[in-house]
This record gives sequence, structure tokens and C-alpha cells, in this order.
Amino acid sequence: MSSNTPAQNPVEQDEEMLKRVLLHPSSLLRAPQFLGMKALDREAFTKKIPTVAAYIKDKRDIQKVRKAAGPVFLLDPLDRTIVDPKRLYGDEGKQTYILPLLPSVKIDDESTMPADLAQLVKENKVELVSKEGTLTYVDFGSEEILKSILPRDRYDGIHHGFTLTGHIAHLNLHGEYANFKNAIAQVIMDKNPTVETVVSKIEDVGSHSEFRTFPMEILAGKLDTQVSLRSSGCSYDFDFAKVYWNSRLENEHDRIANLCSKGDAVCDVMAGVGPFAIPAAKYNRALVWANDLNKDSYESMVQNIQKNKVTNLVYPFNTDGREFIRLCSKALLRDGGKTINFDPNPPNAPRDPAINTKLKPIETYTIPKVFKRFIMNLPASAVEFLDAFIGLYAGLESLFQDPSKSAATPGEAEKFPLPIIHVYTFNRHNIKDIEEAAKEICQTVSGYLDYPMRVERTENLRDQYVQSMQVKSKENNAKKATFSGEAESALAAPKPEESFSEGSMSVGYVRAVAPVKSMYCVEFRLPWEVAFRTPSKELTEMEKKLEQMKNIWLRSDEKTQWPGKPKQ
Ligand SMILES: C[S@@+](CC[C@H](N)C(=O)[O-])C[C@H]1O[C@@H](n2cnc3c(N)ncnc32)[C@H](O)[C@@H]1O
Repeated sequence: MSSNTPAQNPVEQDEEMLKRVLLHPSSLLRAPQFLGMKALDREAFTKKIPTVAAYIKDKRDIQKVRKAAGPVFLLDPLDRTIVDPKRLYGDEGKQTYILPLLPSVKIDDESTMPADLAQLVKENKVELVSKEGTLTYVDFGSEEILKSILPRDRYDGIHHGFTLTGHIAHLNLHGEYANFKNAIAQVIMDKNPTVETVVSKIEDVGSHSEFRTFPMEILAGKLDTQVSLRSSGCSYDFDFAKVYWNSRLENEHDRIANLCSKGDAVCDVMAGVGPFAIPAAKYNRALVWANDLNKDSYESMVQNIQKNKVTNLVYPFNTDGREFIRLCSKALLRDGGKTINFDPNPPNAPRDPAINTKLKPIETYTIPKVFKRFIMNLPASAVEFLDAFIGLYAGLESLFQDPSKSAATPGEAEKFPLPIIHVYTFNRHNIKDIEEAAKEICQTVSGYLDYPMRVERTENLRDQYVQSMQVKSKENNAKKATFSGEAESALAAPKPEESFSEGSMSVGYVRAVAPVKSMYCVEFRLPWEVAFRTPSKELTEMEKKLEQMKNIWLRSDEKTQWPGKPKQ
């Protein structure tokens, strides 16, 4: 198009250009295809591509040329930035000012380029030259490389996805993708600067390890599984090879922590290294009794409690979850009413208000006699621990709010509500079949409680939480609404409504774990009949042991400050 060409209607002109852009081969910048490449050959990704190079004669014209050549630039595969000429043309790209254009630009055909560019060519401000460019492994993103070598993924990355835990990328490979583990590990190391180690589990988590750890194979990078990371606004240190951690549960940890309120007593039965307990204490000032049977988890949890300065709010234990439910509940009945102090100031801050104007007052909490909620995140088997709630408060009916009475009945408001239980479980049905999942889960839960429960609602917890955070961050201006923001904003966050009629449960979808395995959180208030049922049968050996232990606790020195010493 020369300056003599009759002026075109601008809309038509834009459409013309659009057509031409659309005609350009989109595969130009795609990585070459090596479906089935199991040993990564980086060299093989070197690819020659035809381009047109625009040589700009005077660097003062750079902006003019950029503006004029807009629609015919060679953009990266995501159509965002111009492909770097230094990479495309090697040394020449470094020395001269060149911009790469699409090969659909024909040097001797003005109609293939924007009119303004043709004009600059005419004015000798820019010279167009057909030129071969070179793309290498470095130019392609990890998705692009993986797509080029892996069999087609039918499950949205679930077959070859990885989770990041500190510096460790943990591959979760299923089926035929396992054969590509080394190549995938190399690509992940190459393309993610923060990844220093890539591991893969050898066996299915849960079916082989009661602690939900897994024998792992280090596929690439340094042999170091000691991790430091931040999650839910808290810091954690642990050995990834010895304890359970899943970064994909951060939203769920936040959700539960956010349900807790100041001074609530919370019992985290399978606490791991503390990702529910620590944020609930740090940001919502819950008093958390946190237990894990795995000694390594317990030890990391103790460190993490100190690290996050919630020592007076989270009390770590190392025992079996079933025993813990019963012993802790009894101990709380005995020791509730005592007070604990929490100093929210940094340890080294001056305590003299005349010197430290930011000094916060010491917070005092009265330990409740009853847990507000129990958290049981051991999806492979936590429902089996539910029988520990049968008869938990037998004989203590007068302490509790009776669900058959109205809240206005005199004296009811001063009593304790029965605890809410959040128990995690797996089910073969995913979110699409949540009603089916709920039916099956309800049956199982009813079995372990020996009480007919019913499903009151099903929920997509994952989506709900993400949406609520989006709404909050809009309202509260980004950071403030999340745990990574200020503690005060989390404290002030409105708590979701938790209403459970007697014997009803909600079944919430948390996440897909594998193509036919999803994680759910079942939530319900402990039914009255279950809590106060008098065991009719003879005590089992385990129950006898519990009774004995209970007596030891009850005899223990009253002066021992509760929260008592962690049970070793
Ligand atoms: C899925 S992990 C959850 C850990 C933590 N709550 C989280 O969200 O990351 C389950 C935890 O249960 C612990 N565990 C396994 N059996 C247990 C038992 N009988 N009693 C208490 N904890 C147990 C494991 O050691 C593991 O840390």
C-alpha cells in the first residue's frame, strides 16, 4: 500500500489486517512434537523458523516502527511480547536494532504489511529482509515442552501435575505418565527457578503409610527434603520425606481457621505440622489442642508453634487420635474455666508503654469446658475414629444445650452447644456426582456413629471459598481479607453461618485427588443421642485402657498448669 493508494475506510483496514494476522501460521512458535520422548533431549527442540527482519536504520525511529508494524510482529506463543531478537537472531540480534516480523509479510508486496510500515520502508527508515530465526529449548515454556513429549492428557493435568512444597516439586504421576518421570522432572527443574528438587512418590499415599507420608524418589536436583515455607500467613519448617504436607490444602486450612473465633477451644485430632491449628490461633485467637501420632510431625509442629509465636494458644500432643478425642474432652471438662494469658507483642519488644507506643495489651482467655469444633483430616480413615464420640459426654446432659428446646428456654443460652465435627474423607465420585458421594458418605458416617444421619446440604467448598475471598478482597481492598494480610482483618472477617439441625450433615467437596478419588469435608454437630449414649455393651480393651488413662489424668496434680505437658 503506497501513499498513492486511495485511503481505505479505517474499519475495513483493521479487518484486513486482522484477516492477515489470523492467516499467519500459529504453529510457527510451537515446540516441535516429540510425542513419547522419555529421555529429555534439549537439543532436539532447536527449530529454524522463517521470519522477516525489520532493520531500523536510526534508533530514533524505533517507536515509530514499533507502532507501524504492530499487527505483524512475531509475538511469543501467548501473543504477549515480541520474540526477543537477540535469541532469535543470535549475535546479530544483539548488535543491530532488528524487530522480527511474521513471515506472511512479503518484502515486495505492500498489501501484506500495514500501510504505515510500507511508508517507512519507502522513506528508507526501515529495511525488510527475509531471515531465518532460531528457537531453542529455552524459548519454549514448560507446558509447551510437556505437551510436545507427553501422551495427550485426558484429565486436565491431573496425570502429570506437580505441587510445590518450598523448594520441592512433587510429581504426582498416574498411569503411562509414570514412564516419563525423569523427562518431566528435568523440564520442571529447567523451567521453574525456585524448584531445587523434584520428587515423585513411589507408592499410593494412605494405603501404605498410616502417617500419609510416602517413600519418595528424588528425580532431579539436590538431595534435601528439609523444607521452609509460608502458607496461610504462617511459617512452617519440616522434613517433607517424614511428614505429611499438601500445599493444595491451603484454602481449606484458611477456611477452617476462619471459622474459629477468639477463645474457642478447638481440637485438631490429626494436626500434622500445624496448618489448621497455627493460623486459627495466630489470626483468630482460637485455643487449639493439636495432636499427631507421627513423632516427626509432632516435633515439627512444636517448632512451628514457637516459630509463629502461638505457644500459649496451641498445645501440641503426640498420641493416637481416638484416645486424644476422649482424653482431651475429659481434661477440658476438668480444666475449663482456668485462664491463660497471651502476649501478642514480639518477644524482644520493650514492655514499657512509655518506650513502646505500639505495645499491645496482654490478652486473657478463659478456657472453655467444651470444644467448639473437632478437625479430623485423615481422609483415608478419619471416619473410623467417629466412634470415639459415642457416649463422650454420657451423664453430663445438664451442661449442654438441648437441640429439642428453643434457645429462649431459661438457662439454655448459658449452656454449651455440642461440638461441630469436621471430618475429611475420600469418595470415588467427583463434584459432578456430589449427591451420590454424599449419600455414600452419609451411610458410612451413620455406621460409625451408629446413628442415622441425613444430608442437609452439599457444597462446593473449593469454589465457594475462592468466590468469598474474591468478594472480600474487592470489599477490603486486596490483601486485607486474606491471611497473608493483617491479623486484625482476619479477626474481623465475618464468620460463615453454621447451622446444623439435629442429625443433619453437610458434605463439602474439597478437591480432586485422582481421576476417581475426591476429597470431601463432612460437617455436623455431634448429635445429642450419640454424645450421651450410655455404652450398653461391656467395655472393650481399648475403652478399658482409656478409662484407666482418664483416671490417671484426673488424679494428676491439680497444680499442673493446663494446658498440661504435651503427652510424649
Ligand atoms: C492427611 S494428614 C493431615 C495433616 C494436617 N491436618 C494437614 O492438613 O496437613 C493426616 C495426619 O494424620 C496423622 N495420623 C495418622 N494416624 C493417626 C492417628 N491414629 N492419630 C492421630 N494422627 C494420626 C498423620 O501422621 C498425618 O499427619
